[in-house]
Amino acid sequence: MSYTIKVNGAARTVDAEGDTPLLWVLRDLMDLKGTKFGCGLALCGCCTVHLDGSPIRACVTPIAAVGSKEITTIEGVGNTPVGKKVQEAWLALDVMQCGYCQAGQIMSATALLNTKPKPTDRDIDDAMSGNICRCATYTRIRAAIKQAAGLPTTDTREA
Ligand code: FES
Ligand code: FES
Repeated sequence: MSYTIKVNGAARTVDAEGDTPLLWVLRDLMDLKGTKFGCGLALCGCCTVHLDGSPIRACVTPIAAVGSKEITTIEGVGNTPVGKKVQEAWLALDVMQCGYCQAGQIMSATALLNTKPKPTDRDIDDAMSGNICRCATYTRIRAAIKQAAGLPTTDTREA
């Protein structure tokens, strides 16, 4: 079946079964390989993209469920004001280690700052808890989110 979905501001048409995960549509049919496959079970967060601004796991989102909603991926998020700030903070603080999880981390962080421009540590914990990093870059991720938000980058949680 043919589906036309909006990705990073452009309408894209693909032939796919309705239950094809959005992740494979993006990677295999649209050649947008920045969104990564980790678990395929909505457990790791590395396939995170935005659906009308909300973070979703592309590995468990069938293309038929997208409809007329807008998809934003790591390839497009830098064109948004908040996404650009987040990416700049990521680079400035050298957040990445192997990098595999980082597209998903940036997408979740950007969605957080779009809804909460000055997040608390608890807000950051809640928003980022589904994004796993095998390299354990969590401290730098937290600092980069705060830097992008214009907040002090120290951790203010109680021990
Ligand atoms: S690959 Fe989608 S959450 Fe892990
Ligand atoms: S930077 Fe390696 S998994 Fe997160």
